[in-house]
Amino acid sequence: MKTLGILGSTRKGGNTEILLDVALQEAQHMGSSVSKIILRDKVIAPCDGCMGCAGTGECVIQDDMQEVYKEMREADGIIWASPVYFWSMSGPTKNALDRTYALLFPKLQQAGKIGGLILVAATRGCVSASNPFHMYFSYNHMFAAEFTMAWAREKGEIKKDATAVTTARMMVRQMDALFAAHLTYPEGFDRPLPNLVREKLGL
Ligand SMILES: Cc1cc2nc3c(=O)[nH]c(=O)nc-3n(C[C@H](O)[C@H](O)[C@H](O)COP(=O)(O)O)c2cc1C
Repeated sequence: MKTLGILGSTRKGGNTEILLDVALQEAQHMGSSVSKIILRDKVIAPCDGCMGCAGTGECVIQDDMQEVYKEMREADGIIWASPVYFWSMSGPTKNALDRTYALLFPKLQQAGKIGGLILVAATRGCVSASNPFHMYFSYNHMFAAEFTMAWAREKGEIKKDATAVTTARMMVRQMDALFAAHLTYPEGFDRPLPNLVREKLGL
């Protein structure tokens, strides 16, 4: 298994990064090869909505996201990791997530991959921040493990939270189990379900 971690925290050595590193270490321990993309080190423009990707599955914007696409295509499991900013995911996380629109075409490029999510908030907002990821994984016909939601404010504070560390490890074990199960969507489910149903109804 190849596991990719995508870090959307702007704080170097922050709580989100610590938990993502725990998860990636666990993945390595389970025999996975791992890689980590630190979005704050990348130059990634926002999606400009040109829809150029809709035919090709390639984004026309030539920036560091091209490297992220390559890593995502090669990965079997993808862990998104973000701090909670105003009850939502961080800006860099959303920015990169929007750019993955290209991976919906011409057929779902992430179908069958395993999804994981790490969110860290000081006190509140993990659940609302997780909401888009439920639909994101399902829309992409991915299989998601239970999300890691954790609470810490000061930089590094999460290290003291044994439950958060265990939860991140357990999420990775679930990802490993999902991968080992060789799950696939039925043949023909190569586009998002709403599109398939619309076409079937002739709408
Ligand atoms: C711009 C900004 C917005 C934040 N919004 C929230 C929030 O809505 N809910 C919350 O509980 N914590 C919020 N926090 C606190 C962070 O989620 C928390 O400190 C977290 O541990 C940061 O993760 P990091 O160490 O990876 O940067 C916010 C912090 C910042 C800088």
